Amino acid sequence: MKIQWYPGHMAKAKREVREKLKQIDVVIEIVDARTPLSSRNPTIDELVQQKPRLVLLNKADLADPELTKQWLRYFESEYSQSLVVDAQRGEGIKQIPGKVRELASPLLEKWKRKGINPRALRTLILGIPNVGKSTVINKLAGKKIANIGDKPGVTKRQQWIKVGKEMELLDTPGILWPKFEDAQVGYRLALTGAVKEEIFDFQDTIVFFLNFMKEAYPDLLKKRYDLETLPEDVIQLFDDIGKRRGCLVPGGIIDYDRVAEIVFRDFRHGKFGPVTLEQPKKI
Ligand code: G4P
Repeated sequence: MKIQWYPGHMAKAKREVREKLKQIDVVIEIVDARTPLSSRNPTIDELVQQKPRLVLLNKADLADPELTKQWLRYFESEYSQSLVVDAQRGEGIKQIPGKVRELASPLLEKWKRKGINPRALRTLILGIPNVGKSTVINKLAGKKIANIGDKPGVTKRQQWIKVGKEMELLDTPGILWPKFEDAQVGYRLALTGAVKEEIFDFQDTIVFFLNFMKEAYPDLLKKRYDLETLPEDVIQLFDDIGKRRGCLVPGGIIDYDRVAEIVFRDFRHGKFGPVTLEQPKKI
């Protein structure tokens, strides 16, 4: 699979995040609940270091609830606080300030000991593209924040948004790049929209996806395409779906590009039902 990424852009994005982090008390990292590990920047721990961190498992409405529970436990054991969120509908958003406060309690105690008047806790939303950073910011702000620069290098004057009395949020998120450590990570990112459609091969991605679905969610796959059984061979599966969906070119040959496109859109629009593309590693 051909995915291009530019080390120069990545380094710049990292520098920008590092700069923002200097002003921050608590980091809010967003991951995609359908693919929580692949949708992280692998260098994030080194970037954020010891700063208290809340991990949001966003797009929970699209993810398998049973696996989301397991992922929640995984992130809680790694970073102490995590929340399941559906930012589009605003679910889980109200719990964020309380969690931020809990995470910052050592800092609040330190201020108290030193006789410093507590100020609002400063937070930054961090994550790779398309995980829902802007949606979460808008929900927390209670309004649409204009011009959230979603590209590294798009700079604007930063402002603090008040979230209740005790929390402030930087109005521009920190954007990190995903890293394609192996092809599977790339496929998951392609499926969930973190990398642009033009830079990956539909058919390769869909072969990966159909093989995954056959193993992990065979019933959802059968139901979606009205198939009684699933063939061993993935090409046969392309044929079966193609016939069901009328993807034939003259001569009765299956148009595989069209099949891949249909399966891809179905996944992107949640038509299979809740699906999670990876399971927590054994901790
Ligand atoms: P970003 O700033 O991290 O890049 O992400 P952004 O908030 O722009 O969200 C990316 C897409 O994901 C948006 O859809 C947004 O509506 C959707 N989204 C965000 N949070 C949730 C959620 O909890 N559940 C669901 N189902 N969707 C969510 P979009 O603009 O239509 O883009 P796309 O979906 O076509 O990629």
